[in-house]
Amino acid sequence: MSDDDPTQRYRPATLAANFPGVEAPDGGVVPPWQPATTYVRGGNQEFTYLRDDGPVIATAEAQLAALEGAVDALLFASGMAAADAVFRTLPPGAHVVVPDVMYWALNAWVKDQGESGHLRVSSVDGADLDAIAAAVRPGETGLVWIETPANPLWTVTDIAGAAEIAHAAGARLAVDSTVATPVLTRPLELGADIVMHSATKYLNGHSDVLAGALASARDDDFWQRVRKVRTLGGAIIGSFEAWLLMRGMRTLSIRVERAAANAIALAGWLTTQPAVSHVLYPGLADHPGHDTAARQMQGGFGAMMSIRLKGGFDAAAKVAATTKLFREATSLGGVESLIEHRAPVEGPQSPCPDDLLRLSVGIEDIEDLKADLAAALAAV
Ligand SMILES: Cc1ncc(COP(=O)(O)O)c(C=O)c1O
Repeated sequence: MSDDDPTQRYRPATLAANFPGVEAPDGGVVPPWQPATTYVRGGNQEFTYLRDDGPVIATAEAQLAALEGAVDALLFASGMAAADAVFRTLPPGAHVVVPDVMYWALNAWVKDQGESGHLRVSSVDGADLDAIAAAVRPGETGLVWIETPANPLWTVTDIAGAAEIAHAAGARLAVDSTVATPVLTRPLELGADIVMHSATKYLNGHSDVLAGALASARDDDFWQRVRKVRTLGGAIIGSFEAWLLMRGMRTLSIRVERAAANAIALAGWLTTQPAVSHVLYPGLADHPGHDTAARQMQGGFGAMMSIRLKGGFDAAAKVAATTKLFREATSLGGVESLIEHRAPVEGPQSPCPDDLLRLSVGIEDIEDLKADLAAALAAV
């Protein structure tokens, strides 16, 4: 990229709200949606067939690459499809190191890949760099995967430290940065090789698009294979979803800042509530990952937290069913606040205690959010 490349010149808030190049050929300030699945030969040579790529998708990818400071980005039909493409690009039988606290469905999928012999999987405490260092096998480990802050206990991994360990062993570091978003953390600047997002969450932000994203520090053979896996596996995002994602990304920065400001205020208040035994949030000074999070997250600690209730399983079930603004639903990262009793959702393999409620804090008025939780907590 040249020095006057706007993607180098502008900061993430600007790249999200007003990305140079998204305007329509007729001067419209938003890009047109192009639904075509196929392109006339000899016409636009850049695009052939939508399973490979398309103009709306390519524009959204350029925007995401700029936001992450990446050389390239790829969009997928879901976050799971994006993560799967990274693991699938590894040679059969490759050794991978994954954290024991990570998005539960991906954890289950990677373990399944281990049980079926497609991968050799070491699962370690992702917050502990010594444990990661002990698990990597120099020359054998193909990938170290981390998630930070990690769903649903919000453990924090030192990205720069994990990158050093992975690279010393000849492995790549991939970071699920769904919860941090490029507004708060840019993992590639800290040494990661690949960043992954469930774009279903904050990047889109309106709970109306299922999408996944990868962004890469280099356009190397591995990255070209990831692209091939997406094309041949048919895992690309739909063009309308890519258009909606760009629409959502315009407000990414302001949504994330507001939700994170609500979250830190709510976390502090929750620590004073008699029904609550623990508040798991990296923004709190007593969180074990607080210092690392403060170093590698700028402008906030994200808007995801979990609370544990003194009244156990039944109290957690009751609070989740009682809140009104905090809707009882899965997922996260939308403008609306959500609450979920995780242990029954994740099943017996879950690291979640029975009494844990996961909160996705939205952008509503903080006093309304507190009042909603206060009323539900008072009933248990
Ligand atoms: C941290 C994280 N990573 C990955 C995923 C999977 O993304 P998707 O649901 O878009 O497939 C999720 C979904 O909840 C998630 O929370």
